[in-house]
Amino acid sequence: MITGSEIKLRDKKLSDARNDYQWQTDPELVRLDAVPLLTTSFPQYLLDYTDELRYPTSTRHPFAIETLDGKHIGNCVYYHINEAKGEAELGIMIGNRDYWNRGYGTDTVATLVNHIFLQTNLRRIYLKTLDGNQRAQKCFKKSGFVPYGHLVRDGYNFVLMELHRKQWEERQTE
Ligand SMILES: CC(C)(COP(=O)(O)OP(=O)(O)OC[C@H]1O[C@@H](n2cnc3c(N)ncnc32)[C@H](O)[C@@H]1OP(=O)(O)O)[C@@H](O)C(=O)NCCC(=O)NCCS
Repeated sequence: MITGSEIKLRDKKLSDARNDYQWQTDPELVRLDAVPLLTTSFPQYLLDYTDELRYPTSTRHPFAIETLDGKHIGNCVYYHINEAKGEAELGIMIGNRDYWNRGYGTDTVATLVNHIFLQTNLRRIYLKTLDGNQRAQKCFKKSGFVPYGHLVRDGYNFVLMELHRKQWEERQTE
């Protein structure tokens, strides 16, 4: 369990599957995440989910985001972990709309970034978010991420953002 100011991050568990399925079949959420709408049935999803929990990979660390009183409101992850390059990609989704714009995203990103830089040797965290997703960009900027480029993929326009360990360290002493 990793504790922030407003949230806790914990390992994923099978009982998260119902929420995750609901969020991955929500047209607005998948559009904001620039991923295709999930079309598999829940029973099939549950089978795949069980396999993923049983066989975790070393290049991907997913977490559930919980409020301090234990409500599962979303997920975050660092993945594409490349030890040789010393970097990984960060992802976040708060699926429960009641918790948007209340600082939970910013606290989640700051908490996950602290965890990564304190517990691993990674030197750079990067991410991509849709050009038009101002809320997400503001949330990442508040945790120190800076834009460094653009990417067009599958018809989506992304802003690329990054945070280097050195910049993170400087922010700790501010
Ligand atoms: C993106 C997301 C993680 C942000 O988390 P959050 O808890 O809602 O965001 P926060 O409250 O921590 O911060 C958002 C900031 O953006 C601001 N904001 C909200 N809508 C905005 C808009 N349209 N334009 C500019 N700023 C906006 C908020 O006021 C807040 O800033 P403030 O704290 O200075 O007032 C979350 O909303 C989410 O998961 N949304 C759905 C999925 C999604 O967008 N996925 C893509 C992630 S890459």
